[in-house]
Amino acid sequence: MAVDRFGGEPRVVELPVPVAGPGEVLVRVAAAGINPYDAKVGDGILEGRPHVFPLVLGVDGAGTVEACGPGVTRFVRGDPIFGQFLHDPVGVGTYAEYTLVPERIGVTKVPRELSSVQAAALPTSGMTALAALDTFALRPGDSLAIVGASGGIGSIAIPLAAGRRASIVALARPASAARLRALGAAETIDSAPDGLPERLRRRFPGGVDALLDLMSAAPRFAELASSVRPGGTAVSTVYAADPSRAGPSGARQINLSLEPSAALLDRLVDEVVSRRIPVPVERTVSLDGAIGALREVKAGRGAGKTVIVI
Ligand SMILES: NC(=O)c1ccc[n+]([C@@H]2O[C@H](COP(=O)([O-])OP(=O)(O)OC[C@H]3O[C@@H](n4cnc5c(N)ncnc54)[C@H](OP(=O)(O)O)[C@@H]3O)[C@@H](O)[C@H]2O)c1
Repeated sequence: MAVDRFGGEPRVVELPVPVAGPGEVLVRVAAAGINPYDAKVGDGILEGRPHVFPLVLGVDGAGTVEACGPGVTRFVRGDPIFGQFLHDPVGVGTYAEYTLVPERIGVTKVPRELSSVQAAALPTSGMTALAALDTFALRPGDSLAIVGASGGIGSIAIPLAAGRRASIVALARPASAARLRALGAAETIDSAPDGLPERLRRRFPGGVDALLDLMSAAPRFAELASSVRPGGTAVSTVYAADPSRAGPSGARQINLSLEPSAALLDRLVDEVVSRRIPVPVERTVSLDGAIGALREVKAGRGAGKTVIVI
């Protein structure tokens, strides 16, 4: 599934099987997790990096090593691997039957406890959730508010944070409330935009310890960050934070920029497997069905993870 130009409509195309170069492995893709980032890549967010057209979308994937290029040492043919496959040139993506990945980036072996669909759902959302929790360094009993909690990052951040015995309040659409409580949220607040900061402040007059915001633009993020207690931390994954200001309440503001790596992915896998954390796969689709699914994710209507089964 590819776009022919930045901003173009994705379509399913026939392309030759790529050939693994030095340090690269050729992967027969079994499943590809959909992220909002995939739509952003199609729209040109990485225009300044080397890229190819047709630009095959998709950064998260799981599959089997089909062939190894010269110099590959971490994997052999037949290994089940998964991870975040994004590399230059951008456009050799995971929404495909075959893709390439350099062995040195954020990929690792699929543990036997996970299916390829579960593995494909984890990399970007899970590593981002884990990196955010590293930033917060939560102590048992700390309160964590997650804004936009219904989606991919929120649905894995909740059980990961619950494992740190944080008290999680999920700001989400009401239709997701029961699912998010089952994942470990202590309570939910309707994320409808009107009066959202006031609802959070009413519930936590002394301020929350930590805020993870997965959707708000800068003005709304600033309002929500003012509901974090002095010395607490407010993180945005959409670059809405203003790190130069501590906010009226004295909270730190941080824009999280994921630095994917095999080490971070391995830590995530260890935690998911050892604590039997549910991988939030809500839906699987075919490659053809992915066009509509990506449109929904782009519009903020995704719930948990949607995975393409190839
Ligand atoms: N900075 C980084 O390194 C990094 C890494 C990974 C992801 N991200 C970004 O972080 C954001 C969240 O990622 P995700 O995978 O959790 O996304 P997702 O699966 O699409 O979830 C986002 C959630 O935000 C809420 N939302 C409501 N209205 C929205 C709108 N108009 N647009 C977008 N979301 C809306 C929805 O939850 P409710 O209905 O519950 O409100 C939605 O499920 C994305 O923009 C993604 O690109 C950044």
